[in-house]
Amino acid sequence: MDTISYDASSEKFNSKNYPADPTGKMQKFAIMKTFCLCLLMVVVTFCMGLAVVTLSPKLKAIKERGHMEAVEDIQHISNLPQSKYKYLNHMQKSKRFVLQGGVVQWARYRADPTHYDTQNERAFGESIHANGARMTASTLEIKPNGCRVPHWHFNANEHGYLIKGKVWIGILDSAPFSVTSYNVSAGQVVFLPRATLHWMKCVGRENCLFILFFTTSDELVTRDVDDVFYATPKDIAARSLKPKGGISFINTFKQPKENQAVNLPPNLNELVRKASYTRSRIFQVSKYFFNMRATKRYRYPGGIIQWARYTKRKTGLPLVERIFAKSLNEHEDTLTLATMRIFRRGMRQPHYHFNAHTMGYVLRGCARVGVDRNATEFTMNSGDVFFVPRGVQHYIMNVGQGELTMVIAFSTHDELQTLDMNVYFQNTPDFILAQLFLKKQDEFHKIPTFRRDQDINLP
Ligand SMILES: *[C@@H]1O[C@H](CO)[C@@H](O)[C@H](O)[C@H]1NC(C)=O
Ligand SMILES: *[C@@H]1O[C@H](CO)[C@@H](O)[C@H](O)[C@H]1NC(C)=O
Repeated sequence: MDTISYDASSEKFNSKNYPADPTGKMQKFAIMKTFCLCLLMVVVTFCMGLAVVTLSPKLKAIKERGHMEAVEDIQHISNLPQSKYKYLNHMQKSKRFVLQGGVVQWARYRADPTHYDTQNERAFGESIHANGARMTASTLEIKPNGCRVPHWHFNANEHGYLIKGKVWIGILDSAPFSVTSYNVSAGQVVFLPRATLHWMKCVGRENCLFILFFTTSDELVTRDVDDVFYATPKDIAARSLKPKGGISFINTFKQPKENQAVNLPPNLNELVRKASYTRSRIFQVSKYFFNMRATKRYRYPGGIIQWARYTKRKTGLPLVERIFAKSLNEHEDTLTLATMRIFRRGMRQPHYHFNAHTMGYVLRGCARVGVDRNATEFTMNSGDVFFVPRGVQHYIMNVGQGELTMVIAFSTHDELQTLDMNVYFQNTPDFILAQLFLKKQDEFHKIPTFRRDQDINLP
């Protein structure tokens, strides 16, 4: 999937409102003001002209010169990224890879730094790579009848959460080579193990939208079936498939110029006579698909968490959940997924994970996020992706008017281990706290203990 079109970043200026003129007094300055305003406009126009004249040869030079030099030049022109972009990526505002049948966007690492579209994306990519996050995020939007064509990933498992629409997915796993197929609907998660061949067709009437997490923080390596086929010598393909008509049949395949990664041929109705969107047996389906929306809700004063994960617990879980958990745990480097809803004014309190990096996607709402690295704080809105390395304390507060909803991935196929701030305060003896904070021991009795878990609390 290469460059298609790009929505130029739209930085908006906030024009300041000037206070209203006090009556009378200022009138005699009106003409003077008009004059000054005109002068200002002339100066601004002149400066803009000057900027264009001085910058355009520079930009042209960047195009012509080598990659590394170009990157250095860009850094001089734009400011260096703020440190928050190590943890924040405005994925929804990033470059849209537009294909016939859909759109793909990324929050990822690029091996060649000139392949980043902005310095902020570079800060994020390099941060996930340097931390060994083993996660890359992407959104995949597919139009009705569009198809993410059969393909496989060399170096990553794929975990997805369907945000909207209905997608018929087929998975061809290793021997005994049976296809597992299933109609996924919104709120369900999919798990596509590394190197399994799979396809996704949007079968509903509305667009389908996935948030996907790939378990690599290198570049994702993918091969589409059509690309492999056209790269195979025709005689070899004929020998392999042994079609009626032999190589002359193989010769009738014509590779289109346009990338078919997510395709939607205009003459689809002529091509496809009969489609049957079958569903495999439930035990097979449960290895790859799980209805996270319908699973148990863990309720806290300020919100609700639901999980698609492995747990050591064997009893009390529905069979389909046990099958899915086992499948996650049996494969290497899989992810734990969760949806987290934080009510208005709720806060996921400061905490860190012992055994996983965290990557999340904001479905809706507005959050204030803090990461315990150089006191970094930032705001997240829908379509943003965040990343927190293992062991780094962080908090997420709902600062919007409505509910805040996120899909979160944790890089562990084991039980997630977490420690919250109020828990480590309660479990450290108060005389140790007194010594640490240079405060009287009794003062620490002011910090209450709670019966109910305060993971997501309210003021
Ligand atoms: C999957 O969805 C399609 C489109 O709505 C429908 O025609 C088909 O019957 C569904 N398949 C199953 C097994 O439910
Ligand atoms: C924190 O800031 C210092 C000084 O600006 C910088 O050298 C360091 O890399 C930063 N640490 C992180 C984790 O961003």
